[in-house]
Amino acid sequence: MDSSQQGLVSSAVIAERDPGGAFRLPAELSIIVPTFNESRNVPLLVEALRAALGDTRWEVVFVDDNSPDGTADQARALALEDPRVRVVHRFDRRGLASACVEGILATAAPYVAVMDGDMQHDETILLDMLARIRRGDIDLVVGSRYVEGGGMGDWNKCRIAMSEFATMLANKLTKTAIGDPMSGFFMLTRAAFMGSLPGLSSVGFKILLDIAASSPTPLRVAEVPFTFRTRQHGESKLDGLVLWEYLQLLLDKAFGHVVPIRFVSFALVGGSGVVVHFFVLTVVLQILLAVFGTADEARWFAVGQAVATLVATSSNFFLNNILTYSDQRLKGQRLWWGWLTFNLVCGVGLFANVGIARWLYQRHNYLILSALAGIAVTTVWNYSMSSIFTWRKRL
Ligand code: GDD
Ligand code: MN
Repeated sequence: MDSSQQGLVSSAVIAERDPGGAFRLPAELSIIVPTFNESRNVPLLVEALRAALGDTRWEVVFVDDNSPDGTADQARALALEDPRVRVVHRFDRRGLASACVEGILATAAPYVAVMDGDMQHDETILLDMLARIRRGDIDLVVGSRYVEGGGMGDWNKCRIAMSEFATMLANKLTKTAIGDPMSGFFMLTRAAFMGSLPGLSSVGFKILLDIAASSPTPLRVAEVPFTFRTRQHGESKLDGLVLWEYLQLLLDKAFGHVVPIRFVSFALVGGSGVVVHFFVLTVVLQILLAVFGTADEARWFAVGQAVATLVATSSNFFLNNILTYSDQRLKGQRLWWGWLTFNLVCGVGLFANVGIARWLYQRHNYLILSALAGIAVTTVWNYSMSSIFTWRKRL
């Protein structure tokens, strides 16, 4: 059989590359690398890991979210040349933190590291980290950033203040003093990870913070400094939403046991919809009255109300798609289908709202309480039904 056609290298090649047999022994260290559009960096990283780790028993697991640039294919090609390279390919999902969690869960090694796939993290400190954690007196080694080109020199005051504030919050939350709790480069014992697993939020970027904050006992931490390199290929996926995702993580850690953070996000977006509604209603009504005069005001109010409802529902839909469901955002044709189902769900919710509020008002005559009860029931209805019909989990 000509196995080269499938990209497989022969056992002779493996034997030559692997005289000690380290490839075939179970890994002591699993390096989890979340990737999105890193096809040009992935081969460089594997090469760098080979050079840095020598005959340590390691493996690397790329967790790719179906990158359009074919990163998963690239990683699979490398896996066919070297059994230490593995791939977890996720479909219709996004999220750095959840990718790391699933990668760690796909391995058996007693030590796991998380590392970016863009060559910004210095792989040569991995051996130091491993040596440190092997001693057995700590749970976690954090690669702490020294930004290339000298500290945080090119960050403006506001950004430095924000970063310090975020770090302070993080340390309060984790009850451990990690110098760089936002680092994406760290190594921990499997036992420590398993302890945190049930409490993980898995939202956003801050997986280290999530793990440290979810640990039932404060983690014992060491830090190894490294210089953060600049990116050669591709671009950062951190966008304007990181702040929001960070807030979600903090909220989930604080209140997640009481109410799901997605619901909080959904309710906040709903609140913004009320503002949108009144704004659109006022503007449309003013225009209609200016054009057609005030003779038939009730009719123009009804038109304004209908337009405002449609605009507010649409605004809620798009905001939820970006903020509440950032990990399973609808795109293309599914976006419009989602918009339709969302409007239908909210339409039914509106009837429920009016029905319940009216029923309560007739019975008790408390205007505000009746209205709020109607809104509460509708919010829960809209949230649960849209999670089934609009943003249904496909995998
Ligand atoms: N699977 C998956 N899914 N991987 C992702 C996703 C995603 O949705 N988003 C980003 N990644 C991968 C990238 O491909 C890269 O390998 C790694 O996660 C880090 O993403 P970058 O976009 O390069 O992040 P960064 O360099 O701006 O931020 C890094 O530094 C921050 C501290 O300054 C990350 O390590 C952050 O976690 C860290 O807080
Ligand atoms: Mn990066």
